[in-house]
Amino acid sequence: MTLYAHITGWGTAIPEKTLTNDDLAKIVETNDEWIRERTGIERRHIAAPQESSASLGADAALKALKVANLHPRDVDLIICSTSSPQHLFPATASIIQDRIGAVNAGAFDLLAACTGFIFALNMATQAVRGGSVRNAVVIGAETLSRLVDWNDRTTCILFGDGAGAFVIQGSDQPGGVISAVMRSDGSGGDLLSLPAGGSAMPATSQTVADGLHYIQMNGREVFRFATRVMANATRETIEKAGLKIEDIDIIIPHQANLRIIDAAARGLKLPMDKFMVNLQEYGNTSTASIPIATVEAVESGRLRRDDKVVFVGFGGGLTWGAVTVIWTGPFPSEKPVNFQQQRRLATVRSWLRRLVRFLEGLIWGRKG
Ligand code: UT7
Repeated sequence: MTLYAHITGWGTAIPEKTLTNDDLAKIVETNDEWIRERTGIERRHIAAPQESSASLGADAALKALKVANLHPRDVDLIICSTSSPQHLFPATASIIQDRIGAVNAGAFDLLAACTGFIFALNMATQAVRGGSVRNAVVIGAETLSRLVDWNDRTTCILFGDGAGAFVIQGSDQPGGVISAVMRSDGSGGDLLSLPAGGSAMPATSQTVADGLHYIQMNGREVFRFATRVMANATRETIEKAGLKIEDIDIIIPHQANLRIIDAAARGLKLPMDKFMVNLQEYGNTSTASIPIATVEAVESGRLRRDDKVVFVGFGGGLTWGAVTVIWTGPFPSEKPVNFQQQRRLATVRSWLRRLVRFLEGLIWGRKG
């Protein structure tokens, strides 16, 4: 039996606080006109101190499970793609697994910068199609505002915080994710990086003084690379799916810069209205940008059941990729899951597990 991987749930979590271009002009030497003209961005959302990549990711995942009406205990796999993980380890996906009460899920992070969501979607698809996983949750979650240098006008104007998630479920009904392209070029790794804090350059007071714990980017080079790969990857995934560009109802690209999307549209000889664009509201939310734009497309009626959609992204690594999807929507299900109750249960379960571990430590002789 051939298994297909369908997208049956979706959700986002967006911080309430916004930062407009005019607000930014009070922090660095820039102005609304320059930012709008060069990027298309008007505002971005910034996480509150109590919010994190894991908390936003968990909220988005629960909303996606709610749309799919899938109980958290029935999730087998959680992949969190993030460029701003909660820690180097444990994985942000593990923290999300605990928060949503997905007690039967394996969870790991996937790091491929802004292309992460595309890669994670394809990995979850392959696991579902291979039959080892029935239900997966794929998350893009970011708090990039914590990793940008708020004195660097070339980067701090671009990025925003937020999360988005998809539920992927297997079925023998044709459709869902039907083709994917994944590419990397590590020779361009230095064009977009966060140099310090890893094993090559452990954090020291000197790395902090030099600002090496912030995102560093060669914007012009990344721009040139992005305009080159977006149209190519889109064409390739459509061809792999056995479709023609005219068959595609909507393209949902990574939301980095309006001029990059415009260049891709021209490269593909498509009108801009084929592309979902919402970066004016969120800025570049890295791995979260594609699911956030998708949820907006669904909620506004631009993406409907049976539509053929291409997701395409690019980012640090360098990495780029695209997938073609026949949009499905939730599978029919019987008993509605009480998600509020599940969330409370997950919190209680997590505390109980910590308590049991503590008591075991006392019984078996905790040192120190
Ligand atoms: O997810 C992937 C992440 N990265 C990207 O997608 C980034 C891709 N690159 C870009 O989007 C664009 O390169 C930027 C928006 C970052 C920059 O736009 P640009 O048109 O490539 O500008 P530029 O770097 O060529 O700079 C043009 C001028 C420079 O001044 P001079 O040297 O011509 O006098 C900059 O110093 O604009 C100046 N500039 C600014 N001016 C006002 C750079 N940043 C700003 C700013 N406000 N925020």
